[in-house]
Amino acid sequence: MKINTAQFVISNTDITKCPEANMPEYAFIGRSNVGKSSLINMLTNRKSLAKISGKPGKTQLINHFLINDEWYLVDLPGYGFAKTGKTQRLKWEKFINEYLLKRENLLNVFVLIDSRHEPQRIDLNFMGWLGENGIPFSIVFTKLDKLRPSQKGSFYPQYKREMLKIWEEMPPHFITSSTDGTGKEELLEYIEAISENYTP
Ligand code: GTP
Ligand code: MG
Repeated sequence: MKINTAQFVISNTDITKCPEANMPEYAFIGRSNVGKSSLINMLTNRKSLAKISGKPGKTQLINHFLINDEWYLVDLPGYGFAKTGKTQRLKWEKFINEYLLKRENLLNVFVLIDSRHEPQRIDLNFMGWLGENGIPFSIVFTKLDKLRPSQKGSFYPQYKREMLKIWEEMPPHFITSSTDGTGKEELLEYIEAISENYTP
């Protein structure tokens, strides 16, 4: 798929204020600093459509971007940011859960996982929650460029082994780097294929 236009639409914490749910929508979620905003910029060929930061906790709101006037891409705040207080965390959970559970045109959630790290409980639990609630998701491994060559072949089998202790089969997965564009075509083709079956 070719990205012709990508524009920011609105940010908020209230699902009733999101754009009308009349086009396919895809959300990006994962631990703080995993590379969600960078991936969105990589996919849309923009340097700073979504705001990026070296410090975790940059994205705080539900951010809608309209792509090719045909579908929405959504940047969500990260979870698992240690400095977030309990009150803030509960507030986050409330609006993100509500968004994920109620957004009718949300066709797939991309759960981002840093390919350098061992499987983390917080990610496994979050994917478990998506599964229990019947929310379709795929895994996107990020920052492949940061792996040593020896790790490039071994991180996925290791992750899969952990997942298969919980799941009967692996969800679809993508391996990406926002620095060098690895995985871009595969992700965009996947999005295009899902959107083809969408009827509002
Ligand atoms: P929050 O909004 O805080 O939840 O973070 P985020 O998941 O949106 O992460 P963001 O895209 O802001 O990136 C965090 C840091 O990781 C930044 O310093 C990015 O430059 C870096 N980064 C993201 N993706 C990649 C990648 O594929 N390769 C490399 N080398 N660095 C990356
Ligand atoms: Mg972000």
